[in-house]
Amino acid sequence: MNNLLFCSCSSSIVVLLTGDALYALRRGVSDPENVLQSWDPTLVDPCTWFHVTCDADNRVTRLDLGNAKLTGKLVPELGKLERLQYLELYMNNLMGPVPAELGQLKSLVSLDLYHNNLTGFVPPSLSNLSNLKFLRLNGNRLTGRIPRELTKLGSLKIFDVSNNDLCGTIPTSGSFSKFTDESFMNNSRLEGPELMGFVRYDVGGCK
Ligand SMILES: *[C@@H]1O[C@H](CO)[C@@H](O)[C@H](O)[C@H]1NC(C)=O
Ligand SMILES: *[C@@H]1O[C@H](CO)[C@@H](O)[C@H](O)[C@H]1NC(C)=O
Ligand SMILES: *[C@@H]1O[C@H](CO)[C@@H](O)[C@H](O)[C@H]1NC(C)=O
Repeated sequence: MNNLLFCSCSSSIVVLLTGDALYALRRGVSDPENVLQSWDPTLVDPCTWFHVTCDADNRVTRLDLGNAKLTGKLVPELGKLERLQYLELYMNNLMGPVPAELGQLKSLVSLDLYHNNLTGFVPPSLSNLSNLKFLRLNGNRLTGRIPRELTKLGSLKIFDVSNNDLCGTIPTSGSFSKFTDESFMNNSRLEGPELMGFVRYDVGGCK
C-alpha cells in the first residue's frame, strides 16, 4: 500500500484497467492453442504479453489475435482500451454480439472481426470511430440493418459486411458512395442501394 502513495498513480491505474480489460477477454474466450498463456494478471504490465502492442506511454495500441482458434464471446471491457488502433480478431470462432462499447475506441483505425460466428446487429455506436479506416465484419451471422450513421465515417476506406444475414437497404451517401457491391454481397435479405431517395431506407420487416 505504501508505494501507492508515491507512484504516479493515474498512469498506474490506467495500466491496471488495461490489464483488467484484456484479462476479461481472456476469461471470455476459450483458447485451445494457449495463445493467451502469457496474459498473466499477476504481471501488472500487459505490454509484456504476447499479441499486445503498446505505445511509449504503455497504452495498448494493437491486439493481434487473428486466426488464433479462439472460441467464445467478445467482452464489453474491450471498450476501455482507449488508445487501441488495431483490433485484429479475424478468423476465430467468436460468437455472440459485437459489443456496442467498441464505439468508445476513439483511436481505432482497423476493426477486423471477419470470419467468426458473430450474431446480432452492427452497433450504430461504431459511427463514433472517426479514425476508422478498415471495418471488416464479413463472414459472420450478423442481422438487422446497416446503421446509416456509419456513412459519416469520413476516414473509412474499406467496409465489408458480405456473407452475413443483413437486411434493409444499402446506404449510398458519405463514405458509402465509394463502396462496391462486393462489400455487401451474400446477404440474401439486403435490398438494393438507396438511389436518390427512391428506395426508402427504413423498409419494414427487417430484423
Ligand atoms: C456458430 O454458433 C452456433 C451457435 O450459436 C453453433 O451451433 C455453430 O456450430 C457455430 N458455427 C461454427 C462454425 O462453429
Ligand atoms: C457517440 O458518442 C457520444 C458521446 O460519447 C454518445 O452520446 C452517442 O450516443 C454515441 N453515438 C452512438 C450512435 O452510439
Ligand atoms: C453466404 O454467407 C453465409 C454466412 O456467412 C455463409 O455461410 C455462406 O457460405 C455464404 N454463401 C456463399 C455462396 O458464399
